[in-house]
This record gives sequence, C-alpha cells and structure tokens, in this order.
Amino acid sequence: MIFSGNGSPTPSEFLREYWQKKPLLIRQAFPGFIPELDADDIAGLASDELAESRLVTGSFPEHDWNLRYGPFTETDFASLPESNWTLLVQDVEKHYPPVHSLLDEFSFLPSWRIDDLMVSVAGPGGSVGPHVDQYDAFLLQAEGTRRWQFTVTFDPALVPDCELNVLQSFTPEQEWVLEPGDMLYLPPGVAHHGVALDQGMTWSIGMRAPSTADLLQALGDWLAQNRAEGQRYQDSGMPLPHRTGEIDAAAIERFCRMLGNVAHDGVDFRSFLGSFLSHDRLVHEPAPAVKQLDVQALAKALEQGATIQHHPWTRLAWLKSGPGAILFAAGDEYSCPADLAEKICTRPVKITNNPDQAKQQLDLICELINQGHLYLQL
Ligand code: SIN
Ligand code: CO
Repeated sequence: MIFSGNGSPTPSEFLREYWQKKPLLIRQAFPGFIPELDADDIAGLASDELAESRLVTGSFPEHDWNLRYGPFTETDFASLPESNWTLLVQDVEKHYPPVHSLLDEFSFLPSWRIDDLMVSVAGPGGSVGPHVDQYDAFLLQAEGTRRWQFTVTFDPALVPDCELNVLQSFTPEQEWVLEPGDMLYLPPGVAHHGVALDQGMTWSIGMRAPSTADLLQALGDWLAQNRAEGQRYQDSGMPLPHRTGEIDAAAIERFCRMLGNVAHDGVDFRSFLGSFLSHDRLVHEPAPAVKQLDVQALAKALEQGATIQHHPWTRLAWLKSGPGAILFAAGDEYSCPADLAEKICTRPVKITNNPDQAKQQLDLICELINQGHLYLQL
C-alpha cells in the first residue's frame, strides 16, 4: 500500500490536498521494493524495435545534451560514457505484463487516467535535464539513489535548438534525495530535475491528460467516420449586417453553440469519449485472435482453471448508458450491464457462477477474446 507509512496521507487526503496541486514525497511507499526487471532487462527492451526507447546524455548547467531514439544495439551500450547518461523505455508494463501489478497500486485513480510505466536506467550524474511535464507522475526509486530538485516558479525559456525540452535556467526551491522504495509525486507544471547520484533505476508511473487540441482533433476524426459531417452553420433570421467583413458577436456565439451542441446533444459525445479515452496514446493495438473461440470452448477452459487476462495493448473503460453500460476496449464499443463492465475492467477478469448471468458474461467475454482485447491463460 502506497499510503500506509507513518504520517502518509490516506488516498482521499492525497486526492484532496496534493493531486494536481503540489509535490509529495512518500518515504518507503514500497518498502523493500525489488524491481522485477533489472538494467539488463531494460536494455533488452530498448533493443526491441517494438518498444519506444531513448538514450539521453548530457548535464546541467553545461547543456551538452544529446538525444537518440532506439532500438539500440550492444555497441551503443558498450560505447556509453562512464557517467551522465540515461536510457528510458516507455510502456514497460505492456511489453512485460507481470509488472502491471504495480499499476494496480494506483487504483485510487480512474484506471483510464493512467498512461504507462516508463523505466529509466541512469549512470552516475544521469539526468534528462531540468524540465516541466504536462502530466502528473509518480517517480518510484527502484534502485540506486537519485536527487530530485524542483520549483514551482521558474523561467520557462528552453535551451534553443535542443531536441529535449530542457529549461535554460533552473534554480530549485526544494530538493529530496530518494532511496530505493521512496516515491515522489509531481503534479504537472512543476519544474524538476532528477540526477542519479549513482547507477540506478527510476520507475515512473505517468498519467494522461489530453489537451483540448487532442480532444478536438480526435472528435473531428470520429465525427467524420461515424456521423457524416454533423450540423452546418445556420443563421436564419439574422439582422442586416452593418460592417463589411465583420464576424460579429452573434456569429461567434452561433459557432460556440455549434461546438457546445457536439459535446451535449449533437452527437453521442459519450460514445466518442469512451472510444477516445480507451484508445488514446496506444502505440500498438490488439489484433483479432487467429483462432476464433466459441462459448462452449471458453466455458470448458474456465472449468479447467484458465484465467481471463487483459491484452497488454488494450485499454478498457466503461460509462453508464441508460439502465446499463457501454464498455470500451481500445476504441471498440460493447453494450452490457454496468456490473459486467466493471468486472471486465478488473484484472484478472472474474466471472460469477450465477447461471442467469453466465450466458451473457460468456458471450461478451468470448467476443472480447475473439477481438483480441482479452485472452485465456491456461
Ligand atoms: C527520468 O526518469 O529519468 C526522468 C523522469 C522525469 O523527470 O520526468
Ligand atoms: Co519529468
């Protein structure tokens, strides 16, 4: 339990006082944390072309930054300098599903808000430079020692002509040194700089916060695909325009209303939102199963002790709809009762033995397995 230490806030206190507001250091959030993956495992992932990886060298205040994208080879790792390097791999829980159990510790947040587990391995002095993120992050020190400095007031100017978004200047207001098992929560918009004091690993649980631009772009694509082009601009009954070329206040208001209608009643915005949030930022997607399963085969496998797992590259979420719910899986949509949607979003998926519900549960689970969102583990 993250918040069980002496003096730690409860999850409700955390949400009320810190979430999206201010940094929090939780000493021994994971006492005796033993990472299931070591630096060699992370280097292995960074050699895989399916994984998103980066190698950063440089230091502050020298600003001698260099950024390269993976996949990397043995030679790349062998030619690393002694110090001032960081290897970062995104979506580690999807490439290596057993570590997903760490994300389950964050169940005090909506599951669809969690983006991924990023692991960074750093040599002494390794850092990605002082910077600001647009996302909340929980930075768990998995191995070694790291000094985190941060400040809420800073000059936002970035180092020019640098691929990394590094702040030109940075004067910390506060610093904490994290040991294995300690975790730092940072809300978006706080400038921070983490420097490895020796070789170590940071496991960073990052949240998602789509921008208005992301949302509008996705909504536009969704409307075009699902709802033809939507309502057209209308201005019947308008008074005589008195200034040539002016987009007047009434016209602006009509356009704003057009956008508002999309979010409220113009289209099924809820359907869009579920599809978007269950799909957003997934670099890979599950593919339909090669061998399609039928309900009898599923029931038999369950009787023999098979468990139902989430495909690592699906994201599941649901919302209420009338008396039931709509379940979303990586952008696909399924109607079902709310209890079943919740059950399917919980890992591993456990079905009830109630014979009245069994048929409906098995039918939907079978469909989700055949679409690749769930799979059976024997
Ligand atoms: C890191 O883990 O090296 C960087 C994480 C961050 O500062 O956001
Ligand atoms: Co950061």
